[in-house]
Amino acid sequence: MLSQHEYGAEKSRNFEAMRAGTAPTDRRAGPQIEIRPSPSLRLGDKAPDFIQDSTRGPIHLYEWMAESWAVLFSHPSDFTPVCTTELGMVARLKPEFDKRNVKAIGLSVDPLSYHDMWARDIAETQGVELNFPLLADADRKVALLYDMIHPNSHATETVRSVFIIDPTKTVRLTHTYPASTGRNFDEVLRVIDSLQLTDDLQVATPVNWKLGDDVVILTSVRNQEADKLFPQGYRELKPYLRITPQPNK
Ligand code: BEZ
Repeated sequence: MLSQHEYGAEKSRNFEAMRAGTAPTDRRAGPQIEIRPSPSLRLGDKAPDFIQDSTRGPIHLYEWMAESWAVLFSHPSDFTPVCTTELGMVARLKPEFDKRNVKAIGLSVDPLSYHDMWARDIAETQGVELNFPLLADADRKVALLYDMIHPNSHATETVRSVFIIDPTKTVRLTHTYPASTGRNFDEVLRVIDSLQLTDDLQVATPVNWKLGDDVVILTSVRNQEADKLFPQGYRELKPYLRITPQPNK
C-alpha cells in the first residue's frame, strides 16, 4: 500500500497527466472497472437511495436524511489539496447548515482507511474536526448512481459534483465544478436559502440575491393578489418585474 503522502502525490500527478493529455498511471486503481452509462440526474428527479460505508458507519441515505435537506458533494480524491480545504470549510459551516435543517455528506471513491487518515490531516491543517460523514465509495456504487464520474475528466474518479436534495428526496440543484476549482459553499447556502424561501412564498430571488435582500413577485400573481400577499408593497418596474422586500424577514 502506498503511504498517504505518496498516494496524494500520485493522485495529483495523475490529474495533471490527464489534463496534459497523457495517460495516467494509477497504481492503486488495479483492474479498470467498467463504468455503466448512467443518465444524468435532472432537477426534479428523485434522488437515488443507497446504502454505503462512511466515516460515520454505513449510511442509508433516505433514513439518514429523515426530514432534513441534504447536500451531497463529491470530490476527486483523498489527500488532495483543494478537497482538504473544501472539507474544512463544510465542517466550519455546520452551524449554518444546521440552522437551515440541512445535513452535509461528502463522497470520494477512496476506502474508509484512507478517509480516516485524511480526517486527521483535515483536523490538523483546517483546525476543525470532520463533523459530517464522508462516504467511502470504493466500489463506486454511489458515484455511478449519481453520474459523478465523467470519463472526459477522469475515467475512474469523481468530479466535484454537488446535489441539493430536499426532504421529499427530490433533487433541487446540481452543479459540477472542474477538479482544479474549489467550490464556494456560501453559494450552496445561498441557493438553499432561495429554495426554502421560494418553496413557501410566491416569489423568486433575483441576481446575486442574499438572505434579507428584496425579492421579485412571481408573474403568475396578479396585482390584486399581490396587494394582499405583500402588504409591505412593491415597486412595479414592468408588469413582469415587481420588486418587494423579502416577506418573512
Ligand atoms: C485537488 O483536489 O486538490 C485537486 C484535484 C485535481 C487537480 C488539482 C487539484
